[in-house]
Amino acid sequence: MNVTVIGLGEMGSALASAFLKGGHPTTVWNRTPGRAEALVAAGAEEAASVREAVAAGELVVVNVKGNTVARELLASAGDALAGRSVVNLTDGTSAEVQAVAEWVAGRGAEYLHGQIMTIAPGIGHPDAVVFYGGASAVYERFDAVLGLLSGHKRLVADDPGVPVLYGMAVHDTMWGTLNGFLHAAALLSSEGVEVGRFLDDAGASMKALISFLPSIAEAVDSGEHAVEYGALKHHLPSVEDLVRESRERGVDDAFPGFTRDLVAEAVDRGHADDNYSRLIEHFARR
Ligand SMILES: NC(=O)c1ccc[n+]([C@@H]2O[C@H](COP(=O)([O-])OP(=O)(O)OC[C@H]3O[C@@H](n4cnc5c(N)ncnc54)[C@H](OP(=O)(O)O)[C@@H]3O)[C@@H](O)[C@H]2O)c1
Repeated sequence: MNVTVIGLGEMGSALASAFLKGGHPTTVWNRTPGRAEALVAAGAEEAASVREAVAAGELVVVNVKGNTVARELLASAGDALAGRSVVNLTDGTSAEVQAVAEWVAGRGAEYLHGQIMTIAPGIGHPDAVVFYGGASAVYERFDAVLGLLSGHKRLVADDPGVPVLYGMAVHDTMWGTLNGFLHAAALLSSEGVEVGRFLDDAGASMKALISFLPSIAEAVDSGEHAVEYGALKHHLPSVEDLVRESRERGVDDAFPGFTRDLVAEAVDRGHADDNYSRLIEHFARR
């Protein structure tokens, strides 16, 4: 299959390289000349224009900085876009991606959005993840070639905006977890405890944290927050202790203070016997 890659930044170069290694004739285009040299040496064709690049590839992969740029570049292909299949791997918001998808469909081309969940050196790795959104018939047709990019790939919705939300959900969880861990690290360090040693000693407790997520997910999906053990009333004194401990040690208490306020507010609203999942009502506010 002839593949085209538009955008040869850090990520686009890794994508083009994976298609070449997979044996696909690959045409590349980049705004700034000179970035295609290594790929051309590895067998890629460099197109002189986006239009020429789009005309050369049955599958057109776009990976640039921002979806406004992605759309402008595709527009410059003119009528060469009709009949092509576009896989846009450019990050943005779900609405930006949906707008590109609609625009591409209006030009007579097929569209998939892919949310890349790895850094450039991870492309082609068995552990790498890409979430896709779009028509299942298109996704299945390109199954083998997209499989060159990541060991894990999944069509998560026919709406191309949903994989963007998947990516954000992973990052959202990551940043919340990292903030908690760094606060914990500051607390441990204030006592001279090495954080690495804590991880060795408390590894089993830390690993167990991930096992809470399915029950939280089930409660959020069903709206049923009743719980037999571990209710909010038991969280409250523990998080209050954490706030006091932080203050006494001169460690920033804003992050646990935020948690304390959320829990206390839910308890005040009569949810003392509910699962921690009840706090979704705070986060879901518009
Ligand atoms: N790098 C990663 O590890 C990584 C991981 C996950 C997702 N991503 C996503 O992949 C996409 C590309 O990221 P990157 O890291 O490869 O970025 P990058 O190295 O900064 O490259 C950006 C690419 O966009 C092109 N570009 C920027 N503005 C342009 C314009 N006005 N017209 C035409 N081309 C333009 C650049 O062309 P020039 O060479 O001419 O500047 C270059 O090809 C982003 O959406 C990013 O969030 C990247």
